[in-house]
Amino acid sequence: MSQGRTLTFNIFRYDPQEPGDKPKMVKYQIEEAPGMTVFIALNMLREKQDPSLQFDFVCRAGICGSCAMVINGFPTLACRTLTSKYPKAEITLMPLPGFELIGDLSVNTGKFMRELAERLKLWLHPKADEVDIHRIEAPMAPEEAAKLYELERCVECGVCVSACATKQMRDTFVGAVGMMKIARFELDSRDTRSVEDFYHVIGNQDGVFGCMTLLGCQDNCPKDLPHMQQIAYLRRKMATALV
Ligand code: SF4
Ligand code: FES
Repeated sequence: MSQGRTLTFNIFRYDPQEPGDKPKMVKYQIEEAPGMTVFIALNMLREKQDPSLQFDFVCRAGICGSCAMVINGFPTLACRTLTSKYPKAEITLMPLPGFELIGDLSVNTGKFMRELAERLKLWLHPKADEVDIHRIEAPMAPEEAAKLYELERCVECGVCVSACATKQMRDTFVGAVGMMKIARFELDSRDTRSVEDFYHVIGNQDGVFGCMTLLGCQDNCPKDLPHMQQIAYLRRKMATALV
């Protein structure tokens, strides 16, 4: 059905490293191929028409989270988006808002995620006497492992950050990805932090009580993670933390 079409791409171009460069939209045209994704189209454009085009990718399989961008108004992964999804054959590409722009469609999600991890202390805090470097595996109940595995599926693509109106209005808001990661450690029986400890990190307007429940995170997350369920879980925990 999608064969034989000419696709028109409107792509945001701007290189902040280039003195005098100004943000602009540039039009490109390309012949659509069967099974073509936005990522494949971008690669062809870069290879055949404009080698200066900047965008990120690593895995091409929805695993690394690098290729997230705004496609026709919605933040998502370019490598998981078929061009045939767009009947008008016009595709507008913008970089994810809310992140430092590297150039064109490339943003620095890594810096954001690193700062978030440092701010929220997103690593396991085990009991000091439980650390045994000679032990290969720590046993865990299968039900608990399943819950943690579900939250560990996050690929840190940044889509939920860009899709969140609260985050876009208030830069200090930790966003759904921050809360999902806090929930992951709160659920982990090996972590020694108490609900009170987590309350002091996200029991405020920059955390669980700042979420306006607009559902942008859950509606757009390419891994279909249960954001609202986890935010509601944390809210209940936090609401009773200091009573
Ligand atoms: S929670 Fe979903 S949308 Fe947010 S960073 Fe992780 S995978 Fe991406
Ligand atoms: S290239 Fe890795 S998620 Fe798209």
